[in-house]
Amino acid sequence: MTTSLPAPAPAARPAGEPVLRVAGLTCAIGGAVIVSDVSLDVAPGEFVAVIGPNGAGKTSLFNLLSGLLPVTAGTITLDGTDITRAGPAARARLGLGRTFQSSSVFAGLGVRENVRLAAQARLGGSLRPWQRVRPSDRAFEVAERALGRVGLAARGDALAGSLSHGDKRKLELAILLATDPAVVLLDEPMAGVSTGEVAGLTQVIADVHREEGRTVLMVEHHMDVLLGLADRVAVMHHGALLALDTPARVTADPVVQEAYLGDQL
Ligand SMILES: Nc1ncnc2c1ncn2[C@@H]1O[C@H](COP(=O)(O)OP(=O)(O)OP(=O)(O)O)[C@@H](O)[C@H]1O
Ligand SMILES: [Mg+2]
Repeated sequence: MTTSLPAPAPAARPAGEPVLRVAGLTCAIGGAVIVSDVSLDVAPGEFVAVIGPNGAGKTSLFNLLSGLLPVTAGTITLDGTDITRAGPAARARLGLGRTFQSSSVFAGLGVRENVRLAAQARLGGSLRPWQRVRPSDRAFEVAERALGRVGLAARGDALAGSLSHGDKRKLELAILLATDPAVVLLDEPMAGVSTGEVAGLTQVIADVHREEGRTVLMVEHHMDVLLGLADRVAVMHHGALLALDTPARVTADPVVQEAYLGDQL
């Protein structure tokens, strides 16, 4: 007889040192406050869903975390290091990786080449897409492993532009994994993906989180997908953090329901 242990109840707050600490984060552009006083601690290995109506500031929050938008006030700490003023490349080197809301692969390059270039950048050395790939190449090995992880091992020689939307999203995840990030920010990874591909992509993201132990922050409008994956849900509204709690408590929160006007929850 096999006994299965009950899944641990998700904690309402992370215990111990957070891998990512966001304190009073604010971004004002041209007089408009697009992210307002957001504070959030994320525990190592935690999965935090970031939801909110269109224009709530979710992508802007990710842009602040990854260094693509300047911080007006507040701090961002990654694994104990203050990265508030660090550039995007320095943050990536420190273990913060992200994908974008719209697909961003080199369509004219091969699937494996796309991933190998990311691995090469991480491992150091020059970026030479024209250089012949040798099987002994470390970057090649990293690329193969990342492609295997997302289920694209058999598509390595295909042109990235020939992939379906769902497979392009998997390729983006492989590119991200090749840089070995401790914390991954996924901005609408299901955007543009056909209904039939959502389950496969969800499984890949679950594996990246559970099996590889990476910390994940993910923006997604597919609530069923998100609520099944997330330990906690951060709700953004008008640039501010409206709620931060377990999926069950957040979806039952009348203030959150009001923010959505019954649209999506
Ligand atoms: N670089 C920028 N300059 C000026 N305003 C910006 C900039 N980036 C975002 N904004 C504004 O900030 C607000 C939040 O936008 P953001 O893209 O972060 O929302 P979102 O929650 O990701 O929405 P969606 O669900 O539609 O992707 C919007 O009003 C947007 O126009
Ligand atoms: Mg967005």
